[in-house]
Amino acid sequence: MRLTPQQLERFDREGFLFFPSLFSPGEIGVLRDAVPGIYARREAYNVREKGSDAVRTNFAAHLYSEPFARLARHPRMVQPVMDLFGEAVYMHQFKINGKMAFEGDVWQWHQDYGTWFNDDLMPTERAMNVAIFLDDVNEFNGPLMFIPGSHKRGVIEAKHDLQTTSYPLWVVDNELIAKLVERAGGKGRYDENGRLSGCGIASPQGPAGSMILFHSCLVHASTSNLSPWNRVSVYLSLCAVSNHIRRFKRPEYIAHRDFAPIECLPDDCLLRDYPVELPWKGGMPASALATSTEPIDAMTRGA
Ligand code: SIN
Ligand code: MN
Repeated sequence: MRLTPQQLERFDREGFLFFPSLFSPGEIGVLRDAVPGIYARREAYNVREKGSDAVRTNFAAHLYSEPFARLARHPRMVQPVMDLFGEAVYMHQFKINGKMAFEGDVWQWHQDYGTWFNDDLMPTERAMNVAIFLDDVNEFNGPLMFIPGSHKRGVIEAKHDLQTTSYPLWVVDNELIAKLVERAGGKGRYDENGRLSGCGIASPQGPAGSMILFHSCLVHASTSNLSPWNRVSVYLSLCAVSNHIRRFKRPEYIAHRDFAPIECLPDDCLLRDYPVELPWKGGMPASALATSTEPIDAMTRGA
């Protein structure tokens, strides 16, 4: 899949692109069927919601689950990102977020690049977020919310929030969010048909199989899921190879350390068997839990 000049212009202006139903129900079924088995595992890579057994986020499934290993090499997702960066990409992070019916908790307002910069020493924002819906996403089950154009602000000051949910996040304070939303259009306006336009918050919603590309500096959040419908989505972060992280402060199952360029499989890879490597199939190596506050060039110099 190639991006058109109009899509490139829109991405530059708004910071995201939405592709409804990019993957077919058959392709998504293969992925969704693999999720319960992955979520059932008692492993560090399954982070559960505060006070609940529901999985909030699962990490690194592409290293031990075959369907997700094939998704990680899917040209419909990888090609447009390589086009945008003009360079090969590697997998910086791979998550399957649960946002389960009744139990899925909020994601506070944040930018992803803030974390990658502060924790992982990723040099620049040349990394892209991709969201792929495994369930239908609607206004009730905690859809993503974006502040269009907020990526133009670069890295915004953030506080490390260790309290609100079970997962630490660098969050942007409410006063600044209010200003950014106002600048992006505020509440917007309803027309005579009850349709809202010009709103400073955008929320792409659509059927399972839809995909969003969003800039790593785009400010985003989502509310809790009080609906009876799961909102399982895969979030992949593809980083330009030259922009790889420079510190291993977070465990490898969260921030990956293999900077090899992704080699795409054919377009039908979710429906046909193609061999893929599953290095963590037999379990996560102990090294994946090891962390260091030293930059990696200092580690190599010291070796
Ligand atoms: C994220 O920002 O990483 C996740 C947001 C969500 O799942 O709603
Ligand atoms: Mn995020």
